[in-house]
Amino acid sequence: MAYVLLHLLWFLLFLITVSTSAQSYHNITLGSSLSTHDKFPYWASLSGEFAFGFKPISGKDLFLVAIWFQNVPDNTIVWTANQGDPVKTGSKIEFTDSGISLTDYRGNEIWSAKSTDNSLATSASMLDTGNFVLRNKDSSIIWSSFANPTDTMLPSQVLDRGSKLTSRLTEGNYSAGRFQIRFQADGNLVFYSTAWPTESIYDPYWASDTDGTGSQLVFNQSGYIYVSVKNGTLVDLNLESSSSVKDFYHTARLDFDGVFRRYTYPKSSTDGRWPQSWSVSSYVPSNICTAIRSETGSGACGFNSYCKLDEDQRPRCECPPGYVHLDATDKFNGCGPNFTTQSCEEDGFKEEVKFQMEEIPSTDWPLADYEHFEGVNEDWCRETCINDCFCAAAIIRDSNCWKKMYPLSNGRMDPSVGGKALIKVGTSTAKPDPTPDKKNDNGWILPESILLGSSVFLNCLLSLAIYLVFYLSNHKKLKDTHQVSNTVGMNLHCFTYKNLEDATDGFKEVVGGGGCSTVYKGAIQFESMRVVAVKRLDKVAEQRDMEFKTEVSAICKTNHKNLVQLLGYCDEGSHRLLVYEFMSNGSLASFLFGSLRPEWYHRVQIAYGIARGLTYLHEECNNQIIHCDVKPQNILLDDYFMARICDFGLAKLLKINQTRTITGVRGTRGYVAPEWFKNMAITAKVDVYSFGVVLLEIICCRKNVEFMMDGEDKEILSEWAYECYKEGNLHLLVGNDEDAICDGKKLERFIKVAIWCIQEDPSLRPSMKKVTQMLEGAVEVSVPPDPASFISAID
Ligand SMILES: *[C@@H]1O[C@H](CO)[C@@H](O)[C@H](O)[C@H]1NC(C)=O
Ligand SMILES: *[C@@H]1O[C@H](CO)[C@@H](O)[C@H](O)[C@H]1NC(C)=O
Ligand SMILES: *[C@@H]1O[C@H](CO)[C@@H](O)[C@H](O)[C@H]1NC(C)=O
Ligand SMILES: *[C@@H]1O[C@H](CO)[C@@H](O)[C@H](O)[C@H]1NC(C)=O
Ligand SMILES: *[C@@H]1O[C@H](CO)[C@@H](O)[C@H](O)[C@H]1NC(C)=O
Repeated sequence: MAYVLLHLLWFLLFLITVSTSAQSYHNITLGSSLSTHDKFPYWASLSGEFAFGFKPISGKDLFLVAIWFQNVPDNTIVWTANQGDPVKTGSKIEFTDSGISLTDYRGNEIWSAKSTDNSLATSASMLDTGNFVLRNKDSSIIWSSFANPTDTMLPSQVLDRGSKLTSRLTEGNYSAGRFQIRFQADGNLVFYSTAWPTESIYDPYWASDTDGTGSQLVFNQSGYIYVSVKNGTLVDLNLESSSSVKDFYHTARLDFDGVFRRYTYPKSSTDGRWPQSWSVSSYVPSNICTAIRSETGSGACGFNSYCKLDEDQRPRCECPPGYVHLDATDKFNGCGPNFTTQSCEEDGFKEEVKFQMEEIPSTDWPLADYEHFEGVNEDWCRETCINDCFCAAAIIRDSNCWKKMYPLSNGRMDPSVGGKALIKVGTSTAKPDPTPDKKNDNGWILPESILLGSSVFLNCLLSLAIYLVFYLSNHKKLKDTHQVSNTVGMNLHCFTYKNLEDATDGFKEVVGGGGCSTVYKGAIQFESMRVVAVKRLDKVAEQRDMEFKTEVSAICKTNHKNLVQLLGYCDEGSHRLLVYEFMSNGSLASFLFGSLRPEWYHRVQIAYGIARGLTYLHEECNNQIIHCDVKPQNILLDDYFMARICDFGLAKLLKINQTRTITGVRGTRGYVAPEWFKNMAITAKVDVYSFGVVLLEIICCRKNVEFMMDGEDKEILSEWAYECYKEGNLHLLVGNDEDAICDGKKLERFIKVAIWCIQEDPSLRPSMKKVTQMLEGAVEVSVPPDPASFISAID
């Protein structure tokens, strides 16, 4: 009996031993399976803290195959199978000797876990550490979730050389996202952003600097995170936590925003209440917004947005003023303009949108710049961007101005950035259909695909390519001139008299000139020849050196496609010369009054161009510039027969008093406004008058004052034009110009505008801006009065 009892005792002892050992492994036996239809479709660890299996996604008939915290209220997921893709109802997990197999409802395998060397599995266990393992008959681990991590690490988990963590796409989407932490084969632990949806990496944004020596990233059982180095030392990553591993759950996760964060959650509640979420103990990098700076890719946030840390030190992606998130549900997806962007097409004026620059303090898109100017002020920077169709934004910082193109990348707002961003925003029209949500099929590639979708963008791209080639070659040339000249701010060059004498071959070829100046054609030898027009001022008012330079640099700061660009100057002794770009197609005068009548279409474009150039001079540049001598000889035509105004700014240079009366009439007979001869202030309206005369000449292809064979009443065009208008005989003005007659509405509009411009009373004349709008048909043109009806009281 005693023997039997002893035997029984021994047997019980055996049972207990066996069961403890079984429980400590919580063995899952070969042939076990889980189905989404099971009441408990998971295998829990012995302590019940972790579970492996199907985790339903709330509100959908979908399940993630995952490992999660079974005891934490939100069942925080620490690992996912199948690249984070959910599976449908009816899927199954089976454990066979070849490993774990996930099959869909039709029985097709969609994911599996097996040993790399094909050794057979004999048991599987969900361990209390959160590691799910497969073992072979020798009890050695042949596959584990710790060795195949997704985005999370748990205490006792290590990351060996050659392994990586991949962030999820968004908070709730476990598919691979845009960031990776790689423990590289060289021993360095490096954080990268990736070219989603591929795994191609962009520039690193954080590294442990343990290349050559690092062997593992360790999250040890006591909750320390470090890189262990070959010589035995540990490299601390500043990822500490003050909470004990005894009382708190610990995780470290590469979050979808690219930050590697250390989290804790209490294992037991103090008074039955649980915290809402895990608390963050520490994280790297300390500021993701400024840490990421990648030549390619959008940066911490999507394109055209900027990143700033919120009060919880988490990155937030914001749109600049006038921009909206492309996907309202995913702020990291970038922003798009909620207005029609500036067109680079020459005749984009039909739907001209007005633009303004909005300020954003301490913000930069550090890598999208295509031009950089030193020694300029904010107003100049604003203007140069607003008048440049490539320019989407400009940064002004310490007298430096950078111009930026679409798409804007690596945007950040941080006190350390300094300066300010100026973003170009359309003010009048909104995009007809801004519905951003529809455009969201393609995730992160979105901003480009939207831009690429429009032909405007393609055109811009093409012009940009041409422009860049031109700019770069030009830039190079200008750089080379440093041997022969100094640069005063911007691209303005100071030449010696000798430089220009050589350039013009001793001032040989005269191509134009007037009362105060002579213009010579020249070529300045840089790396290659550049044809220029050199204007020698003969009657420069006595002035000190600085004044000349100030005026010249004011002229230089103007930047508009309808102005001739000043390239440089010479101010040496009594010599005052200006160097301009050379205009290949001569002046408007020779174009209009030559033997061939130019086409109506070209004339209309030229009229628009002059009006826009003058509007710019009067209203859009830093200091108002009154031209004082608008006439066809001062309008040049570039390679594309686009009107380019020249000689602006000379009035001031020649010391013509523009606000008080006559110190001498500047201007040319036939084009000058009557106030020059009266005791009246000279304002920008003198240019409006001259423009009116030029406009009539453009319409009629004849000079304002011309001796006519068939009648005296036609000799002064401005008088005859009003008569024709009054009597409804507009066709007489254009002769047999069919195109103009067919375009009757525009013809009438142009003539009415011209008559408004040549009103004797300056206050009746519209501003150039209004003139531009009237020409373009943007505003109605009312019936003009007789230009001569004004009798000046002072006269
Ligand atoms: C559980 O698995 C371990 C390791 O393979 C093995 O030693 C043990 O015998 C298994 N226990 C049971 C009850 O199958
Ligand atoms: C996660 O995002 C990917 C890519 O946009 C998408 O294909 C997938 O359906 C999303 N998953 C869920 C669960 O929404
Ligand atoms: C974890 O690392 C810390 C710091 O190196 C060390 O003090 C501690 O003993 C380690 N714990 C374990 C369980 O290895
Ligand atoms: C061990 O290697 C680390 C990193 O390379 C280095 O900083 C440290 O000085 C080395 N320590 C010793 C004792 O050589
Ligand atoms: C976009 O522009 C339209 C029209 O101006 C405006 O109604 C709308 O509120 C703007 N959207 C946002 C998000 O600012």
